Amino acid sequence: MLDQMSPEALRAALEWQVELGCDTAVEASPVNRFALPPRMPAPARPAADPAPASAQAAPAGPIGTDPDPVTEAERMAAGAATLPALRDALAAYPWCDLRLGARSLVFADGNPAARVMIIGEAPGREEDRQGKPFVGQAGQLLDRMLAAIDMARDAQDPAQAVYITNVLPWRPPSNRDPDPAEVAMMLPFLRRHVELAAPELLILMGNHACGAVLNRRGITRLRGTWTEGFGLPVLPMLHPAYLLRQTGAKREAWADLLALRARLGA
Ligand code: URA
Repeated sequence: MLDQMSPEALRAALEWQVELGCDTAVEASPVNRFALPPRMPAPARPAADPAPASAQAAPAGPIGTDPDPVTEAERMAAGAATLPALRDALAAYPWCDLRLGARSLVFADGNPAARVMIIGEAPGREEDRQGKPFVGQAGQLLDRMLAAIDMARDAQDPAQAVYITNVLPWRPPSNRDPDPAEVAMMLPFLRRHVELAAPELLILMGNHACGAVLNRRGITRLRGTWTEGFGLPVLPMLHPAYLLRQTGAKREAWADLLALRARLGA
């Protein structure tokens, strides 16, 4: 039947399955994976996006062992001298399997010169589709929250602008929670992202961002209190997706926005 379908129909059928949450391709007949030759010492897993030769450098590691994904992430992140180079390095990073199920690498949005950098959790369906963070329903609420204190992701003036990224740059299947191993692999990239963007302060949206940057959880306790992370002042806030479900919590979010405004010296 498949060989009678047009390429367009095949693509539409595949996209429909991805929408349903299918994230792994299996073949019509089983493969005996034990019969395959052993893995080579320096696996070159396919890159989703083209990347410059510097970012695609072969993973280091002793012959006969797999490189440690976190060490590799540290090495590749440290080698990126600019934000575009960091994006290329992420695109070439082969160890995080989330990339296999995602349409886009969602790197960042907003003004990289902004005084404020916002860190969320991970792309959802709309972010994966558009390749930008916080563009779905929660993102639209975030834009309205920022507008209420005269800020916007697309503002030219760094004093009014924000720069936005996520802990994970690829959408987890069916929007499941980030796995600790995935967070550990992405943390060196996130830290480098903050170093390169060099904001004055960070806003952590929700529990997973707090877990990654502060190694602390409990957003309802953490929110609204300035602390320090990655060497910068950090304000944890309730995630806009939570505010969409718990509209009564918008009071706290408003108080946190005012705290941000005051810190910036409105
Ligand atoms: N939630 C997030 O944490 N990040 C996004 O980009 C979208 C929704």
